[in-house]
Amino acid sequence: MSKIDVLLGLQWGDEGKGKVVDVLTPKYDIVARFQGGPNAGHTLEFDGIKHVLHIIPSGICHKEKINIIGNGVLIEPLIFQKEISTLEEIGFVPTNNLYISKKAHLILPSHRLLDAANEASKGERKIGSTLKGIGPAYTDKIARTGLRVGDIFSSNFVANYEKIKQSHIRIIKSLGFDENSFIIENQPLCEYEAKWLESLENLKRFNIINSEYYINQALDEGKKILAEGAQGSMLDIDFGSYPFVTSSNTITAGVCSGLGIAPSRIGKVFGICKAYCTRVGSGPFPTELFDENGEQLRQQGREFGSTTGRPRRCGWFDIPALKYACMLNGVTHLMLMKIDVMNEFETIKYCEEYIIDGERTMELPFDMEQSIEPIYSSCPGWKQDLQGIDKFEDLPENMKSYIGLLEEKTGLPIVLVSTSPNRKDTILKAEI
Ligand code: IMP
Repeated sequence: MSKIDVLLGLQWGDEGKGKVVDVLTPKYDIVARFQGGPNAGHTLEFDGIKHVLHIIPSGICHKEKINIIGNGVLIEPLIFQKEISTLEEIGFVPTNNLYISKKAHLILPSHRLLDAANEASKGERKIGSTLKGIGPAYTDKIARTGLRVGDIFSSNFVANYEKIKQSHIRIIKSLGFDENSFIIENQPLCEYEAKWLESLENLKRFNIINSEYYINQALDEGKKILAEGAQGSMLDIDFGSYPFVTSSNTITAGVCSGLGIAPSRIGKVFGICKAYCTRVGSGPFPTELFDENGEQLRQQGREFGSTTGRPRRCGWFDIPALKYACMLNGVTHLMLMKIDVMNEFETIKYCEEYIIDGERTMELPFDMEQSIEPIYSSCPGWKQDLQGIDKFEDLPENMKSYIGLLEEKTGLPIVLVSTSPNRKDTILKAEI
């Protein structure tokens, strides 16, 4: 019996999970997404082409591997259709290797309006949501009023859809707006809705299955499965900087409920982090930089959202936050991304501890909005281009020292270092 390995982000998302899943897929038979939805933007780069995936697992470009959208994921059928068309245009046949859980919930057009209305009503306190309808769709799931992929075959589907839409419009009105106050992808509700309903036919072309049985059987047969996380641990609904979080469990625990597997079936947990921190949207970010170092990270790291295009907030590496994420996830291996972005830095800083209420601490407080003062240490930069380096031993000495320092502070091995967005620029430090 095999176990399922997990790969997830340890910071505020955008750590580079898509690239690593794509690189690791040859070692697996199946790649499965377990939470989130089109708020994610997973970027893969190979053969000179950049692919951004939102709902589809990042193993899709390996034609012989099965990809699964698990029950914990949210599907927006029209966004899904666009993603599929892009893949089909470049020669992939996703109907062959993409399976979808019947129990995955649907994002309705009115969920997206509701997201916009909720944000508008919050004013200064807005979450900075991607406005893809994530919060409202998970709200309906928990309220037991959602529609699931398996429902699209029901003859009552449109009537049920209409009932839910009307209840959303009532909520939107209670917030002081109406269904025409917001647009979706530059279109009014009626126009978007017609296309959304049509896109259900595209969804019906896929293998829609009870994925919990499929996955458990595959494990029984010894198949190797990789669970692909979305967003990051600091955006987890329970343990992130609430309320500035997403609406799902982004941590390892989410793999069990989002795919239907038992905790005892979890194997390795690969935690992905960047060599610095970023955050997109509002909310606390203790090591955020407002100076030229932050701007340098943003420009050199091309830190602009792959889903919304928004500039990402940038800051130094945060060890207390990383250790917290490693604890919550049971991380067994670390992977360090975008280290090349720091090639030109004279000095590299990292936060070792916080000062909160005048006390030094490693513990993240309940109220992340209170004053958290990072205590920084620094190490010398390597000031070197990394092109052509494909072995860990050949990396600059100062970089190896920085990596060693992070390993020492976290007590975990860094097994992979990524030196560019390209698939080929991935250095394995140890066998995984
Ligand atoms: P939502 O999940 O779209 O509701 O957004 C909630 C918060 O999570 C916002 O601050 C978003 O910017 C952030 N967020 C959601 N998805 C991602 C992601 O994939 N990467 C980074 N941040 C994200």
